[in-house]
This record gives sequence, structure tokens and C-alpha cells, in this order.
Amino acid sequence: MAEDAAVETKGLSKTYVDFLGKREVKALRDLNLTVGRGEIFGLLGPNGSGKTTTMKLLLGLIFPTRGEARVLGRPAHDVQVKHRIGFLPEESYLYRFLNAEETLDFYGQLFDIPRKERRRRTDDLIQRLGLESARRRPVKEYSKGMARRIGFAQALINNPEVLFLDEPTSGLDPIGSREMKDLILALRKEGKTILLSSHLLADVEDVCDRIAILHLGSLRKSGEVRDLLHLKEILQIRVRGLPDAAREKIARIIAEHSGELLGFDHPSETLENLFLKTIREHPQEDDQGMHRPEWDRRADSGGSS
Ligand SMILES: Nc1ncnc2c1ncn2[C@@H]1O[C@H](COP(=O)(O)OP(=O)(O)OP(=O)(O)O)[C@@H](O)[C@H]1O
Ligand SMILES: [Mg+2]
Repeated sequence: MAEDAAVETKGLSKTYVDFLGKREVKALRDLNLTVGRGEIFGLLGPNGSGKTTTMKLLLGLIFPTRGEARVLGRPAHDVQVKHRIGFLPEESYLYRFLNAEETLDFYGQLFDIPRKERRRRTDDLIQRLGLESARRRPVKEYSKGMARRIGFAQALINNPEVLFLDEPTSGLDPIGSREMKDLILALRKEGKTILLSSHLLADVEDVCDRIAILHLGSLRKSGEVRDLLHLKEILQIRVRGLPDAAREKIARIIAEHSGELLGFDHPSETLENLFLKTIREHPQEDDQGMHRPEWDRRADSGGSS
């Protein structure tokens, strides 16, 4: 196994059997995967393709039927590793009557973090996840997006080296999801390794260095996002202010050189950018316990977006 890998699986397989031992589900088949330290790695695949199963195996929450899973050079079920990893489950199970501060303090206690340090981290995470106004509100009152944020903060309380995020942007509005992506990118800058799963392909494309696509428990494709999406055989020329007449000339030159002109077109804005710009045109503090996004505040202070 590679020494410097943050996460590694070899022939990892999981077959679930129902309690009568009659029905088997081959949830994961022979998965070989390596995630390097400091990488953001995305697990993609349709419903039931084995993403959550892979995460649970890596967290040592379930045992493989065959194969091996290692995290930070140790077997996934090793207790020593648990202190060095963070996990955002598909659905966070939070104590409904605790507020944000109490929730984070509680999880900090589970990791034996001293009181003063727990306070510092709780304050830092509340601020980082934009939960200031929800600090003293019980979790049961949270919207889906707020619950996702507190779940994320909880995953970060032990300052983990490796983070497992099962659908981190699910249920978030475009602003929340942009912030979550920015946070994930910032965490990589701090040297953390992140393994995430998602159905939102645009989100994966935005943040992941490498991806793996699972289907029916098998790995179908993996590699660097850039390489996988790069259309090497097509050359794109982008110009501004070109007169129409010049287009005809260009078309002729392409034909002379036996190239195939696929068309002249205008690039599009991404829907995410359009949405964020539209909201930004009407900035206002809201009263729902959500804070103004980072980019919105930057705009006030005259910074660039
Ligand atoms: N505890 C379990 N007992 C029996 N079968 C299970 C169990 N957990 C998962 N499965 C089955 O294993 C397969 C993979 O499930 P998994 O939850 O890993 O998929 P997923 O890729 O995370 O899907 P989703 O996108 O819906 O979250 C599915 O067929 C699922 O029904
Ligand atoms: Mg899942």
C-alpha cells in the first residue's frame, strides 16, 4: 500500500445479506482506489451504486466482505484513526434540543478536547459556517441548509486530517452550496484530504481534483476531472469584436486546411453565476438565522468578487 496515501482500498467488496441470509446485495465489488494527501476526491454514481457503502467501510462503521480499506496508513477500523478523521453523514443525527454552541461543545467533549480549546473551535466553526445567528437556537428549528452547516461544523470539531463528506451540498440553496464549495477548497488549502460523494455534477466539477464513477457497485471510470472532461480533438478560439465578414474568411481558412467548422457561438454564463449575481443585486440582511454570504460582504468592503 502507498505510504503517502490518505485513503486506500484494495479489492474492497461488500455484500449485504438480509437477516434471514436469503437475499444478497452486492453493494461494492472489488474497489481499488487511492486518494493522495491534500486531494479533493469525488465519488459519483447513481442511487444505490455504493458511495455511502464505500464511506462506511472507510470509516470502519461496517466491515468488508472481502478486501482492505486503509485510512492514513492504518486499517479503517483502527480506533487511532478515528481521532484524525471527520464525517458528514448523508443525514446528520443531531440532538434536537441542543443549540449550535452546545452541539459542537458536546462533540468536542467526545474527542476529549480541553474546555478552552473547545470554546475556541466552537466559536471559530460557528463563524466559519455562518451560524452566528443560530448559535443559541435549538437544532430542531433549523432549516435543511442550517442543519447541513451544523453537521459540517461537527465533522470539523476535531480538526481532522481526512474528511468524509456524504453529499455535502444536498439540500443547500445555490448560495449555501457555493459557500460549502468555497469552504471545501479552503480546507484543502489547509492541507486536509477530502473524500466526498455527490449527485450534483456541477459541484463535483467545481471542487474535485479527481473523481471515480461507480455503477452497481463497480468502479466504471476514474481520473483527473480536467483530463476526463478535456475534449482534446476540438480547438476553441475565443475573440471579442470580430466583424462578421472575418468569420467567412476564417471559415474558408478552416476548409482549406480540411478542418471541420463546428460553428461560431457565444459562450454562456453558468446558471450558478447568474443566480449569485442576481441575488447580489439585492443584498440585505435576512432574519432567518442565515448570514450574508462571504462574497456579499466582500462586495461591501470594495473587494473583488
Ligand atoms: N444495510 C443495508 N442492508 C442491505 N442492503 C443495503 C444496506 N445498505 C445499503 N444497501 C444496498 O447497497 C447498495 C448500495 O447502497 P449505498 O447506500 O452504498 O448507495 P449510494 O451510492 O450511497 O446511493 P445514494 O446515491 O442513494 O445515496 C444499494 O443496493 C442498497 O440498497
Ligand atoms: Mg448514499
